[in-house]
This record gives sequence, C-alpha cells and structure tokens, in this order.
Amino acid sequence: MSAPQVYVFDAYGTLFDVHSAVARHRDALGERADKLSDLWRTKQLEYTWTRSLMGSYRDFRTLTVEALDYAGARCGGLRADMRSELLAAYETLDAFPDAAPALASLKARGCATAILSNGSPAMLDNAVRSAGLAGLIDACLSVDAAKIYKTAPQAYQLTLDRFGVKPGEVSFQSSNRWDIAGAARFGFRTVWINRSGLPDEYSDLAADRILPSLAGLEA
Ligand code: LAC
Repeated sequence: MSAPQVYVFDAYGTLFDVHSAVARHRDALGERADKLSDLWRTKQLEYTWTRSLMGSYRDFRTLTVEALDYAGARCGGLRADMRSELLAAYETLDAFPDAAPALASLKARGCATAILSNGSPAMLDNAVRSAGLAGLIDACLSVDAAKIYKTAPQAYQLTLDRFGVKPGEVSFQSSNRWDIAGAARFGFRTVWINRSGLPDEYSDLAADRILPSLAGLEA
C-alpha cells in the first residue's frame, strides 16, 4: 500500500492537552480539579453527539462554555473570575511535547498535514498559534463548515474536499477512540494515539495502528 498523502490530526486530546486549562489553576481549585476537568470534557463531547443526532448544531465554543457551567455546578460552583480564567486557558491549551516534532518530521518528508477538529475556527487558530504549530500545519479544518460534529461522515468529508484525495490516502490520528471509529468507518487509515493506555473498544471499527504517542508516527 502506498504511503498516505495527507496526515490529519484531531486537535483536542491529540495535539492539545484539554486538561492543561484546569491544571493551570489546580491550586486554586483544590481537590475538585480533576473531577471538574473530566466532567467538563465529558459534557462537551456529549453535547456534540446529542446535538448532531438532533440536527441542532451549536458551535464548539458555545458547547465548551455550557459544559464548563454544568461541570462547575456539579463541583460546588465556580466564581465568575475562575470561570473566565478557565475559558481563556482553553483558548491557549498546552500542546503535547510530541506534537511539534511529529508534525515537523512529516513536513520534512514532504507530507501534507492538517487538523480536522470539532473546534470552532477561532478556537483552533488561537490554539495553533499559541502552541507555535502554525508553520507545521497546512490546513486547519473545522467541522463548523459542515455544521455537524464528528463522527458524522460529513465532518470527515471536509478533508477530502480540501485536499482532493480519496479516504484511503489519508492517515487520521486521534487520541479519542470514538473518533478513530468514525474515521475508520469513513474509510481513512487510522492511528489511535492511546496516550493513557485505555482498553480498546469499537471492535468492528479497529485502528490500523495503535501508538502510545505521536512519536514514531512517520515510521
Ligand atoms: C476535536 C475534539 C473532539 O475534534 O477532540 O478536536
């Protein structure tokens, strides 16, 4: 099989550490920090799936705010200043240390690179710029153009529309196993970046490769 022509990355959890926003305020948040961060992420994703099934799209930045408000209410309440700080931090999440080297290595080999994310375009731009990844990514694709979230096929289709390739010419990388399932169903070649050693799922929609980080992706 020939080498993939385009390497497409999920953003949140794959290139950017979604828990780095809460981590920056861990001292102020105290022992509820981890529960808050997990619930924030879980609710944010739940809203993408329920709204896609209902056909009632709201952009990802709005869902991120709604999810934080819910998570905060479940964790004893958030002061307005902390709420603002956390939302601001979400715009400038830390990139995982393996993200820039993996992208640079692919670029050095002449491969095209892209993000395909649920994130709103402005959120993605902020994250990419603040993490210093802008020069390493050829296209930043947001599902906002299709007004439906992954795992809808219309979301993955944005990649083919942008690059004029076939699904089998795309290598799709995500740390989110549900996203790998959607990408596999769509026909992409898939690499599950299993950063936390989670058990596998979606056995009928297996990843082509499983790596513990983005290191070694180009091998
Ligand atoms: C993304 C989220 C869902 O699409 O991880 O970037």
